[in-house]
Amino acid sequence: MDLYEAMRCAPTSRRFKPDPVPREALLRALEAARFAPSGGNRQGWRVVVVEDPERRAALRDLYLPHWRAYTEQTGAALMLADPDAFDAARVRVVRGADDYANGLAEVPMHLVVGVRLEDLAVTDAALGRQSIVGGASVYPFVQNLLLALRGEGLGAALTTLLVPAEDEVRRLLEIPEDIALAAHIGVGYRAGEWPTRLARRPVQEFAFSERYGVPLR
Ligand SMILES: Cc1cc2nc3c(=O)[nH]c(=O)nc-3n(C[C@H](O)[C@H](O)[C@H](O)COP(=O)(O)O)c2cc1C
Repeated sequence: MDLYEAMRCAPTSRRFKPDPVPREALLRALEAARFAPSGGNRQGWRVVVVEDPERRAALRDLYLPHWRAYTEQTGAALMLADPDAFDAARVRVVRGADDYANGLAEVPMHLVVGVRLEDLAVTDAALGRQSIVGGASVYPFVQNLLLALRGEGLGAALTTLLVPAEDEVRRLLEIPEDIALAAHIGVGYRAGEWPTRLARRPVQEFAFSERYGVPLR
């Protein structure tokens, strides 16, 4: 698959066929994803691949309370309760995410991505605001992985709602204390068509010339 094509059409897949993910496809994707950049080239990412049905069900049970809390906080729960009162396209996305959460145990493969905390170069730690830089040493790897999986014809859903359950996930998957959870990726063959165009803002809305707010032409 052409690189630009993969970048433009790697959507979140939330419904999957029951077919297992071929081990060779996963290994090829991980093999390519590992060339991601990281601060100091420390490559602190770690991935636990979960296919065992009982562990997948346990991950679902850890995910669901956080998903439900999220729907309450964001108003998504109101959309699910009274869909006719909301914009149909938004309701579709929330329903898809809700079905994904409820059906998480049936997603063929779960990738639990962590990162070694001591490998993170957190250059904004002293700024007195929410730190963002630590993630920059793991999420390029995650995005590489999503693109590589797309190149393998596989669908994937990146979520972070398992992270609040870090302690329980750590116990379940025997992840050491020095590894922080960064993401959960559900993987499988996508059920249904691939979209040809994702909803994204145009370049002119977020990229500027020389000074913030000056249109880039
Ligand atoms: C940090 C992060 C967290 C996300 N969390 C969730 C989630 O909890 N549930 C979900 O269904 N999708 C989740 N997503 C997927 C987004 O909803 C998705 O990328 C966005 O809606 C764009 O959808 P599209 O790629 O299908 O066009 C998350 C994505 C990111 C980057």
